[in-house]
Amino acid sequence: MHCFGALFVSSSLALAATASPAKSTLKAAASPRYFAAAIGYGHLTNKTDHLFREIAVAEYGGLTPENEMKWEITEPEQGVFNFTQAEIIVSFAEAHDYVIRGHTLVWYSQLAPWVTEIPESEVLSAMQNHITTAMTHFKGRIYAWDVVNEGFNDDGTFRDNVFLENIGEDYFEIAYQTARKADPRAKLYYNDYNTEGVNNKSDSVLSLVKSLKSKGLIDGVGFQSHFIVGSVPNDLQANLQRFVDAGVEVAITELDIRANTPVNASVIAQHAKDFAFVVNACQAVKKCVGITTWGITDSYSWIPSTFPGQGYGLLWDDSYEKKPAYYTTLTALRT
Ligand code: G3I
Repeated sequence: MHCFGALFVSSSLALAATASPAKSTLKAAASPRYFAAAIGYGHLTNKTDHLFREIAVAEYGGLTPENEMKWEITEPEQGVFNFTQAEIIVSFAEAHDYVIRGHTLVWYSQLAPWVTEIPESEVLSAMQNHITTAMTHFKGRIYAWDVVNEGFNDDGTFRDNVFLENIGEDYFEIAYQTARKADPRAKLYYNDYNTEGVNNKSDSVLSLVKSLKSKGLIDGVGFQSHFIVGSVPNDLQANLQRFVDAGVEVAITELDIRANTPVNASVIAQHAKDFAFVVNACQAVKKCVGITTWGITDSYSWIPSTFPGQGYGLLWDDSYEKKPAYYTTLTALRT
């Protein structure tokens, strides 16, 4: 288990002491922050794609299982848990001394269908049992858990889901209480998108965070950062800082910056600038502990299936060629 508190106390000394050759990879340049990627089970275990694993090991110092810790996979039937795929990813991470982010425990999407079919009165105990069992299984091995994911609408109201409907607004606090009890050493995060700038949604998240923080129930906020080329919020750094000022750490948890494909030279250049902008924003905030890109290569990215005609989100292209954004990211991480 990694301890970023200690790392950050000596961060400037550590950076000064690091010889420049050690900064030739994303993970080395990012240290003492982590630089991580979402890793999917199918990609990690694809025997014909050795480059995926080689780049993961060489360049990244952390991971988030892309889908394998989600409810539909870990508890497909009520009370029947399956951590096989997640275990394989976590074991890979441990073998390479990665920081591991657990994603995610309470989310309306990729939820096992049975959760919406059980009697209303059972939803609370089902949520508590799910959190407790998953976190206990991985106890002591996960740096941070996204306890609740995407709990707000863009206008700042609570997002409707089976937990809000059947438990009420208290589901947030109960989820974090349950998580704290299950693995007291894991950092407990709230994670969402469209919260990267100051807006109605991030205002609401901040209110929730202040309330949970006053009860000792939250440690961090994840900003997914699924951006569009040329549209990264200018106030990203200021927004991260206001969460830190509320007493939590922050992280960029699902970074990709997409564009209409095929891309032209000016889009490629803006994509590279945007990645550097995000890295600089995180690095300017003392308690921004790390950056996770949502994948390694465009060939496995979620983007084209969700946004047809779009892509180019990551640092390696479909042929595992490093993009200009790789180099601007590396340079920004080094400064
Ligand atoms: O596992 C099945 C497989 O059995 C089946 O053959 C295949 C056919 O399409 O589908 C597979 O499931 C897919 C799953 O990814 C695993 O690959 C789903 O269809 C697909 O919808 C699912 O997409 C994931 C998406 O979350 C679902 O919401 C993406 O991979 C994943 O990158 C994405 O990640 C989310 C974060 O968790 C939260 N923030 C947004 C982010 C991007 O949407």
